[in-house]
Amino acid sequence: MTHQIKDLADYKKTYEHSIKNPEAFWESEAESFTWMKKWDKVLEWNFDEPKIEWFKGAKLNITVNCLDRHIKDRGDQTALLWEANDPSEPSKHISYSELLGKVCQCANALKELGIGKGDRVVFYMPMVPELAIGVLACARIGAIHSVVFAGFSAQALADRVDDAQAKMIICSDYNNRGAKHIAVKDVVDEAMDKSCNSVEHVLVQKNGNNEVNWSDDTDVWWHEIVDKQSKECEPEEMDAEDMLFILYTSGSTGKPKGVVHTCGGYMVYTCSSFRNVFQYKDGDVYWCTADIGWITGHSYIVYGPLLAGATSLMFEGVPTYPDAGRFWHICEKHKVNQFYTAPTAIRALMACGNNWPDNYDLSSLKLLGSVGEPINEEAWHWYDEHIGKKNSPIIDTWWQTETGGIMITPLPGITDAKPTFASYPLPGIQPILLDSDGNILEGNNVEGLLCVNFPWPSILRTTYGDHARCKLTYFSAFPGYYFTGDGARRDEDGRIRVIGRVDDVLNVSGHRMGTAEVENAINEHENVIESAVVGYPHDIKGQGIYAYVIINGVPSDDIINEIRAVVTREIGPIAKPDKIQVVPGLPKTRSGKIMRRILRKIASNELSNMGDVSTLLNPEVVDEVIAGRL
Ligand code: PRX
Repeated sequence: MTHQIKDLADYKKTYEHSIKNPEAFWESEAESFTWMKKWDKVLEWNFDEPKIEWFKGAKLNITVNCLDRHIKDRGDQTALLWEANDPSEPSKHISYSELLGKVCQCANALKELGIGKGDRVVFYMPMVPELAIGVLACARIGAIHSVVFAGFSAQALADRVDDAQAKMIICSDYNNRGAKHIAVKDVVDEAMDKSCNSVEHVLVQKNGNNEVNWSDDTDVWWHEIVDKQSKECEPEEMDAEDMLFILYTSGSTGKPKGVVHTCGGYMVYTCSSFRNVFQYKDGDVYWCTADIGWITGHSYIVYGPLLAGATSLMFEGVPTYPDAGRFWHICEKHKVNQFYTAPTAIRALMACGNNWPDNYDLSSLKLLGSVGEPINEEAWHWYDEHIGKKNSPIIDTWWQTETGGIMITPLPGITDAKPTFASYPLPGIQPILLDSDGNILEGNNVEGLLCVNFPWPSILRTTYGDHARCKLTYFSAFPGYYFTGDGARRDEDGRIRVIGRVDDVLNVSGHRMGTAEVENAINEHENVIESAVVGYPHDIKGQGIYAYVIINGVPSDDIINEIRAVVTREIGPIAKPDKIQVVPGLPKTRSGKIMRRILRKIASNELSNMGDVSTLLNPEVVDEVIAGRL
């Protein structure tokens, strides 16, 4: 197993070693895994192209490390502990041996359906065990998985399937989410009707009792083809730098991009970070409430925990069903030791009152994690007092889809935890702050742009099908550094606090969204001439979506509702604007660029300090927009 940091002195020593001697450090972290062939070189890199290769020449299969290698010592231990949406439905305990068998069965079925190494498979599923099984089955045979969050619309799904040129979609028939019973397969059918010409088969996991439309040409039931397969499947030999998965995420331009992670480095980093950050000990029950449709679910529900031989809890439902005590009920029921969730969930549950957590025995909890967006002080203290009873350290973990794993975080019981601070970098991570001219801000008590100046094993390698975009987005703003897109502050003791995005990316309930992406969707409405989308502070969601639209014709509630429907159709309900203001014009610079800074101030009700608007092309519009503020 990778090294598990024991105490502060160990953290300091390990960190220093990892920075002074990164290759030796990562080589020793990688030693304990099962490799079919060891590497010729630990690292080769440049951030110019960029080209980053870890464990060059090594051969492996990540599922051997997630599953096979645990069978001898922990074959009967629960690997996945699944909790259904409906609390009366029994939980499922899938042991490491059982999981290996199920993954191999699915892998064999994929092969029978013509899937092989390098083929892309898109998942569009609720949080059922088959999602984790299917993802691992792809990895078993060298197919590249791309999980699309099941809340995205048919159009968004089709866009991702087309970009990845996926040969197969794996979905469920229904998604049980709270009181809702959503027909997932219908969404896939709609996507297939739109485009998805590369798809040969749709593999459908049965999760409901109602009928679904069926196409004999493409559709195959999971239970009909998977259950009859052999429980053994030889793992495909993968190069350390072969693609493991693509995960689409939003940037500041319109189209989501496919972030690519590869096998070897991702494996080493997710395991190493999981063991250090969560201080997982044998016998613990670890629960991350994220959806596998996001990077958090990939790295810290599936890969990290399984690589570390942990028991990982997977929950199908939502925090407030059947009531706002559900999370705490699950913690009590399964004696959860490590609990990892998002600030938006904490804020929503905080608003439901203290009685809910107070009703349950939460004494098993040893640490509380937060991820996805800045956690505000009030939520941090509520989490600390009412969930952790001031007895469980809070780890505010900062990272991104592109980083593959947690980068900056307190270590529970090892480094101190200061509210709202992600604090210190993990071993091997070298964060720096730059000013807007690219000068490094040395010392403490500084604020700037968060960059990283040396590669770590799970850094993204490219954006699928468009390497130039990868270079432009992450490696061009400040040549020689990886640019995160976030602004951050370093306090007097060197702790880092991530403030938020400095680009046109929104973070709504921890969901990442490009303003341009939402604008493109809004502009699909026939009456919309132009739109501008900005974020504004929102009590529960962190950021809400505020859309300014110029409309052709007479504004009406119907049009506003239709615009929301268009966004839901184009992206999904998570991108629906909270506020839509019809405006006569948008403030623009003389070169025609929308002045978002002004629109953000108006949306946030910061009207006292609008700055100089006299240089605008149309300064008169500012007062009109303010007058119509929602
Ligand atoms: O702005 C940062 C914010 O979420 C962005 C990454 O989003 P995504 O790729 O969807 O990954 C989310 C889960 C890892 C970052 O650029 N972010 C994430 N964690 C934190 C955070 N902001 C502040 N504090 C955090 N702990």
